[in-house]
Amino acid sequence: MKAAEIRKLYLEFFEGKGHKVIPSGSLVPENDPTVLFTTAGMHPLVPYLLGEKHPAGNRLTSSQKCIRTGDIDEVGDSTHLTFFEMLGNWSLGDYFKKEVIEWTFEFFTSKEWLGIPLEKFAVSVFEGDENAPQDIESAGYWKALGVPEARIAYLNKKENWWGPAGQTGPCGPDTEMFYWVGGEVEEGGVSKAAPEVFDGTDDRWVEIGNNVIMEYNKKEDGTYEPLEQKNVDTGIGLARLTAVMQGKDNVYETELFSEVFEKLNRLCNVEDSSDNGDWILDAKRIVADHIKAATFIIADGITPSNTDQGYVLRRLIRRAVRFGRKLGVEGEFTAKIAEIYINDFKDIHTELGTKSEHILGELTGEEKQFSETLVKGEKEFERLLFRIEKKFEHTGVRDTEISGKDAFKLYDTYGFPIEMTTELAKEHGLSVNVTEFDDAFRAHQELSRAGASQKFVGGLADHSDETKKLHTACHLMLEALRKALGDHVEQRGSNITAERLRFDFSHDEKLTDEEKAEVEKFVNDAIKENYSVSFIEMTVEQAREIGATGIFAEKYDQDLGGKVKVYFMGHGEAATDPETVQKRVENGGDLSRKADYFSVEICGGPHADNTGSLGSFKIKKEESSSRGVRRIKGVIG
Ligand code: ALA
Repeated sequence: MKAAEIRKLYLEFFEGKGHKVIPSGSLVPENDPTVLFTTAGMHPLVPYLLGEKHPAGNRLTSSQKCIRTGDIDEVGDSTHLTFFEMLGNWSLGDYFKKEVIEWTFEFFTSKEWLGIPLEKFAVSVFEGDENAPQDIESAGYWKALGVPEARIAYLNKKENWWGPAGQTGPCGPDTEMFYWVGGEVEEGGVSKAAPEVFDGTDDRWVEIGNNVIMEYNKKEDGTYEPLEQKNVDTGIGLARLTAVMQGKDNVYETELFSEVFEKLNRLCNVEDSSDNGDWILDAKRIVADHIKAATFIIADGITPSNTDQGYVLRRLIRRAVRFGRKLGVEGEFTAKIAEIYINDFKDIHTELGTKSEHILGELTGEEKQFSETLVKGEKEFERLLFRIEKKFEHTGVRDTEISGKDAFKLYDTYGFPIEMTTELAKEHGLSVNVTEFDDAFRAHQELSRAGASQKFVGGLADHSDETKKLHTACHLMLEALRKALGDHVEQRGSNITAERLRFDFSHDEKLTDEEKAEVEKFVNDAIKENYSVSFIEMTVEQAREIGATGIFAEKYDQDLGGKVKVYFMGHGEAATDPETVQKRVENGGDLSRKADYFSVEICGGPHADNTGSLGSFKIKKEESSSRGVRRIKGVIG
């Protein structure tokens, strides 16, 4: 059974159980500023798991694109992938444990679907702790379906608790399913399809999926609060399941990678002997994995840069190029590999097809740029090794560390991401002084300008007109709060869907009815003024000088002098005629003064074109969010 078939069956199965098939969300999370990439199927659904109404209903299913870069150094082993697709089904406050367990079981074991033999099937459930009780209920449902007691393990939080996807958000205990891939075993003189007792530490029991009982919300202070809405979140790694179903040891042996490997085998130029076979195979897997991840990341709008997602992308491409060269690949090759993935996936993830030229162009551009310095950088690295040898000969002291200064030179002059230098160093039994590197990095402020202005998509669920208007309302409200309560008010976070805004800000006390009315009035007056809304790009210092607000000011600053977008709402020139002001700013001319505007705020956008389109604004709820932070939910219309 091929991956495409498994994906299709899965979506069909859950469609049959009343689920709506939704398209994969972007790899760049739009609701979660705490993490760079979408890490799980549930990630784009966070607002809905927290109680927002999803337009497609409360039973959803998808095959979601995910990136887990934590695994980047483990690429090359058989199970870790940087990019993968996760099959998922969700109950948003609808069905619960019993149904999801029965359906998961049916999908995995029924002959009509995957037909995994019960003899090779096992599960685990949460053993319980101070946050949630032992999940006897789930165990009971598994037993009722015929899973023997000995095949149910009760495991701790490390094993059987999932989430949140970022630092905060929905999470909960989970129950996980396993498939025995170890072949027949002898027990008590009898040959069996799998050991009688499930042992979670034996990696021949491969995890093939999990159902998260998503009934908690992890807060910024690390505590868990019960969610009003009890959800279910199922995740199944498509590639891993495919490998298991095909009886393959690892994902790279499935058709998901076969054509890429054929291509790589033709491009490579290394002697493959039994002595070096392992590193060659690992290197090919790294190339195959990284180019795949890079292809999908570029398709979702990221380009290589020195910050955030762009930096991860750069690392992936450069690492792939380095390993490609190690394998003796000559000339540009990343686009040749990417083309295969684009062809394979363009029907299901259509952005690959529509953006194929852009993807290939970005890959080749980055590859070219890096290839020019890679050889020189490696020579520089050899010189470092040589110096260490010489010093040893003269003094008897062998350095075991590469200085931060040298690592920075490799970065600055030859484009070696620090992780690459660390990796190279490790291959030679050395470490790198990363702290010193960071200091040198910081000192070179201009380095990370690229990419800084386009980050922070912000806490927006989508870029629909309604969402944009609510986003604009957030800016007006911040100013209104400062006018009504004082300048100590700063934004602490926001989350916006097409239905409502949620806005956290620093303030110690509950707002009185009068204060709320005053805030509403300030916002509604600003709406009536029908202010123009536009942005100007400028440096962080310039934004500071004109008194722009924005929670990301500090972060931008740390990110070393990048340009930022500053949104102006008012009747002044920066709002009504941004082109002229932008040109003036670029020629070193004056910026507008804050006094000419109702709101001046550092922000990535997008926004409504004018405040009049907002109609009217109303506070729906005002409550505590955490200590010293209040939360307002508001609507327009
Ligand atoms: N969200 C769960 C996971 O990623 C299903 O494994």
